[in-house]
Amino acid sequence: MENTYGTLASWVYHLDKPIGRSFGDIEFYRERLSGCREPVLEPAAGNGRVLIPLLEAGIDIRGFDASEDMVAHCRRECEARGLPSPVDIARFDSFEYGTRFGAIIIPTGSFQLITEPVQALAVLKRFLDALLPGGRLILDLDALACLGETVTPARQWRTGEDILTLVESRVETSFQRQTTLSQLRYEHWRAGRLLASELQFFHLRLWGLLEFELALRSVGFGKVRVFGDYRADDAAEEGASIFTVEAVAPG
Ligand SMILES: C[S@@+](CC[C@H](N)C(=O)[O-])C[C@H]1O[C@@H](n2cnc3c(N)ncnc32)[C@H](O)[C@@H]1O
Repeated sequence: MENTYGTLASWVYHLDKPIGRSFGDIEFYRERLSGCREPVLEPAAGNGRVLIPLLEAGIDIRGFDASEDMVAHCRRECEARGLPSPVDIARFDSFEYGTRFGAIIIPTGSFQLITEPVQALAVLKRFLDALLPGGRLILDLDALACLGETVTPARQWRTGEDILTLVESRVETSFQRQTTLSQLRYEHWRAGRLLASELQFFHLRLWGLLEFELALRSVGFGKVRVFGDYRADDAAEEGASIFTVEAVAPG
């Protein structure tokens, strides 16, 4: 159940963050990839919120995700647009492609779903090995301040006669391990009746920027740049709530 996106979690994600819903990230990633002539990979591509607009912008992108429900949403949305659906079911720690990529992107902090530092280092090495020489890993990390944010209001979405609800409760915060564990309880209601419920244990590990740069260098990445709040100038400001780290594979 930990960090698994089941049927209701994926449905809610798709209602809340449909294809093209941007936090500034889609434009930012499109700009960073504009000169990239080689194929691009998006691990944890989810419902295709980012992947599909990049595909429509002419970027040769493919993705994978661990959740069959998320991949099904992505495939359906590709089909509805007459696009190929270049998404596979695979995991961070075991994906394999016969080709190497010019860039690997992970928006929305999905890398933080890997909560064990040793596993995170192994995945970074896997990304490095999947990149062409000079290829770039570009991923988002939340500010460490998220460790202190514990109250999330209840949320609901209506679609036709259906109501989806989500209640999130923080179970544990470890400042030592830089992790948070939350319970996300999803419910599907119709005409006042509960049709289904689903529980997701949402476990995240946040990273300090220097710590992450050291991790990247320890597995062999070279030049590292940091951007704050999707600003094109790489001034990682103190107050930024999200950081995008770009690391280059040795040429
Ligand atoms: C927050 S969603 C991100 C979706 C999309 N990248 C976006 O920006 O909207 C996180 C995704 O990570 C996927 N995920 C979780 N653990 C994973 C793993 N070990 N390997 C691959 N994908 C994983 C989930 O299934 C989910 O679709």
